[in-house]
Amino acid sequence: MKIFLVGFMGCGKSTKAKQLANLLNCELIDLDAVIVAEQKMSIADYFSAHGEDAFRQLENQTLKSYAYPETCVVATGGGLPCYFDNMDWMNANGVTVFLEMTPPQLVSRLHNREKRPLLKGMDDEQLLDFIINKLEERNPFYHKAKLTVDAFDLKTEDLLKKIKAI
Ligand code: S3P
Repeated sequence: MKIFLVGFMGCGKSTKAKQLANLLNCELIDLDAVIVAEQKMSIADYFSAHGEDAFRQLENQTLKSYAYPETCVVATGGGLPCYFDNMDWMNANGVTVFLEMTPPQLVSRLHNREKRPLLKGMDDEQLLDFIINKLEERNPFYHKAKLTVDAFDLKTEDLLKKIKAI
C-alpha cells in the first residue's frame, strides 16, 4: 500500500508520514526533501532562483518519476495536489489522506514562516487571511482524497486504523 498524505502547510504531513512509516516499518518519502536533495538547495532558494511555476513543474515530475516501493508513506508539499492532475494520479496509485485543520489551528502551528516562500514576512492576521483564501481554492482538490481526517490532536495509531479501514 502507498499512502499519500495531503493538506495545507503546517497540518503535520511530514511528522505524521514519519510516524506512520515507523509503525508500518516501511519507506518514508518526503517529496519536498527529495526536491531539496536533488536540487541541492532549499525550497525557498528554488522559488527565488526559478519562480513558482518552475517549482510546480518540478514537484509534478518528482511525484510521477519517483521509484516508489510497494509499501511506503509519502508526504507531499501543500500545493502539490492542486496542480496538473496530481490528485488524480495519487488516487490512481495509492491511498490519499487529507489531514484537515481549521485556519486558526494552522496559524497556531506555522511558526517557521521564513522557510516557506509563500508565507515570508506574514504576521498572524495576514496569514489567517491568506490561509482562508488559499483553502477556498485548494479544498476542492484536497477533498478528492479517499480519506479526510481532523488532524488536530490526532494520534498516529488512530490515523493508521482509519487508513486500514478504507
Ligand atoms: C507549499 C508548501 C510547502 C512547499 C512549498 C509550497 C504550498 O510544503 O512545497 O513551500 O504551496 O503550500 P509544506 O506543505 O510541506 O510546507
